[in-house]
Amino acid sequence: MKTQLIKKDIYWTGVIDWSVRNFHGHTYTTGRGTTYNSYLILDERIALVDTVYGPFASELIENIRAVCDPARIDYIIANHVETDHSGALPAVLKLCPKAKVVGTQKCREGLYKHYYCDMDFQVVKTGDTINLGKKTLTFIEAPMIHWPDSMFTYCPEEKLLMPNDAFGQHYADAKRFDDEVPEGILMDEAVKYYANILWPLGALILKKIEELRKMDLYIDMIAPSHGIIWRRDPGKIVNAYVSWAKQETIPRVVVVYETMWGATERMARLMVKGLMDAGVDAGLFDVNRADRTEIVKEMLGAKAFMFGSSTHDNDMLPNIAGFLEALKGLKPKNRMACAFGSFGWGGGAVSNIENIIAGSGIEISQPAFACKYMPDKEETVRCYEFGRAFGEKVLSG
Ligand code: FEO
Repeated sequence: MKTQLIKKDIYWTGVIDWSVRNFHGHTYTTGRGTTYNSYLILDERIALVDTVYGPFASELIENIRAVCDPARIDYIIANHVETDHSGALPAVLKLCPKAKVVGTQKCREGLYKHYYCDMDFQVVKTGDTINLGKKTLTFIEAPMIHWPDSMFTYCPEEKLLMPNDAFGQHYADAKRFDDEVPEGILMDEAVKYYANILWPLGALILKKIEELRKMDLYIDMIAPSHGIIWRRDPGKIVNAYVSWAKQETIPRVVVVYETMWGATERMARLMVKGLMDAGVDAGLFDVNRADRTEIVKEMLGAKAFMFGSSTHDNDMLPNIAGFLEALKGLKPKNRMACAFGSFGWGGGAVSNIENIIAGSGIEISQPAFACKYMPDKEETVRCYEFGRAFGEKVLSG
């Protein structure tokens, strides 16, 4: 399969990256790989919507050639500068002498700063259109969803929205459509993608969805730039984005810890028992054994977090420190949190965890609990009660 018809005269010409396991540097673990989606629209004038990651340029060109001679392309729509979508652009442009690149002003600037090559570039703004003949392309700027240059492309005749990164998933599969893959896996990848990439942008996402709704666009297919295309019920992923962007949560506590010799782990396990006995849902993750991308996904819908660490050099251990730094950038709202951990003499981990929690704008809902070396009989009970009391607060909060 080189290409796939997704709408009348519109072909998926993207590539499947089955093997990628780390994305955005090493900030995102892509356990199921990803795809770089590109769409070729045949009309009186021909448009290619987005290219792919540079190492796959020749595969994209082969896919385009399976549909038409690249020299016939009139427009290359660049919805987004990031290299996973524009990396193949310079190679494609060499084969498309008459092609105009279309994007936002920020896209023009960003592409120049990536590739330093001359392009015949047409800057577009929200509401601008390009007439291809029977089909039209309408552009909608989407700054900071998730880069300043980001843009959505809409084809009204086909009721097709191509929003680039928005509504995507890192999910490599031979199938292209949501009704062809297991729904549970698809939604799991969609929520992971949102949590790890878009979580801090909720306010902008809500505004953009409201703007789309006011534009009265009729959409029966959403074709993002990563993963599976939504055609069964595109409203489902839009509504899920609204819920995630509003930071809606359930009474669930995600406990994340790092332990040196097992004392903090023992505390964490006792606290989770307390949480469960309080009747609150809970999940426990050792930051050194669980995948960070998965933990962040688990946290998106959770009302509360507990962070634990052994003390080392009067501070928390380095991997929970790195995790909390990354969490700060996700800017969680309306959450509760508390800290716990073990120490040998000077202490320091729990107070530093509390400082990071407070600096992240998360409410510290219960003073930290620290335990010298291994919990004794009385401290064992206190660990359990600490979890139980926090669970009760979460349920009543
Ligand atoms: Fe898939 Fe922001 O690039």
